[in-house]
Amino acid sequence: MIVLGFKEYESQAKKIATALACDYAGIDHRNFPDGESLVKVPTSLTEHVVIVRSLHYPNDKLIELLFAASAARKHGAKRLTLVAPYLCYMRQDIENVPGEAVSQKIIGKILSEHFDDVITIDPHLHRIDKLNEAIPLKNAISLSAGPALGQFIKNHTENALLFGPDGESRQWVAFIAEEIGCEYAIAQKVRKGDRDVSIELPHFDYSGKSVTIIDDMASTGQTIIQASKLLLQAGVVEVNTAVTHGLFSAESLQHIYDAGIKNVWTTDTITHSTNVVSIGDLIAEKIKLI
Ligand code: R5P
Repeated sequence: MIVLGFKEYESQAKKIATALACDYAGIDHRNFPDGESLVKVPTSLTEHVVIVRSLHYPNDKLIELLFAASAARKHGAKRLTLVAPYLCYMRQDIENVPGEAVSQKIIGKILSEHFDDVITIDPHLHRIDKLNEAIPLKNAISLSAGPALGQFIKNHTENALLFGPDGESRQWVAFIAEEIGCEYAIAQKVRKGDRDVSIELPHFDYSGKSVTIIDDMASTGQTIIQASKLLLQAGVVEVNTAVTHGLFSAESLQHIYDAGIKNVWTTDTITHSTNVVSIGDLIAEKIKLI
C-alpha cells in the first residue's frame, strides 16, 4: 500500500501513512497561466493506493483529485481508496428550489466512478442515514470524530453542559454526552440566509453552567455566535465550542471570539490554528480493516 497526498494536507496524510507503516509520496500539481491544472502522480505504485485530500473549498481540488485518480490507475493502482476527511457538497441533498443541482448526488456518483472506497469523517448528511445513499459504493465509510472530541472535552472542562445549536447536531451531541456522561440541550435554529441565523434556546437552568457548543462544522460562525450570545444572556459562566470541521475564515474566527467564546476546538480534518484532535489514527485503523 502507498499513501499519496497533496501539499496542503501533507502533514495529516503522512501521519496516516506512518500509522499504516507504508510509504508516502506527494502528488505534484500546478496551474497553467489560464487556470487549467497539471497533476502528476508517482509512476511506481503499489496495487492499493490511498489518496488523501480534504475537500473544503473544493472545486479546483475535485478536478485535481480526479486527474490524480485516473493517473494512479494508469500507473498500477488496482484499488483506489479516497480519504477525504472533510467531504464537500454533502449538504445539498434535494432540489430546494426547482432547477437547483442536487450536488450531493452528483459528486457522490463521480467519486464512486473513480474510487473503490471513500472514507470520511462526520459528513453532513441531512435527510439520509448512510453515506452510500450519497456515494453508491459498498465501501462508502463515514467515521465519527465524536469519541475523540468527547475525550478532549472531558479532559478540558468540568461539569460541562453540551449544547447542540440545531436539530441536526443532536446525533453528535447526544453521542458525546453519553460517552463522557454529561447533560445536554438541543436548540432550534432557523437559517434565513448564509449569515443570518436565529436560535431558540430550550428551557434549561443555564445559570452558572460551563457550556460547550458542539457542531459538525463552523463556516461563517454565525450558528456558534448566536448560540453563544443567548447562552451568556441566560447566565452561563463560560462558553467553549468543539466542531469537527473548522471551515471558518480568520475573520469569522475573530467574530466567534468577540462573541465571548473562550476556546474554539476543532479536529484536523481541515488544517487550522484551532486543531486539537488528530483524526489520523482513526482513519488508519479503518483502512487496515477494509
Ligand atoms: C448546519 O446545519 C451545520 O451543522 C452547521 O450548523 C452550519 O453549517 C454552521 O454554519 P455557520 O458557521 O455558517 O453558521
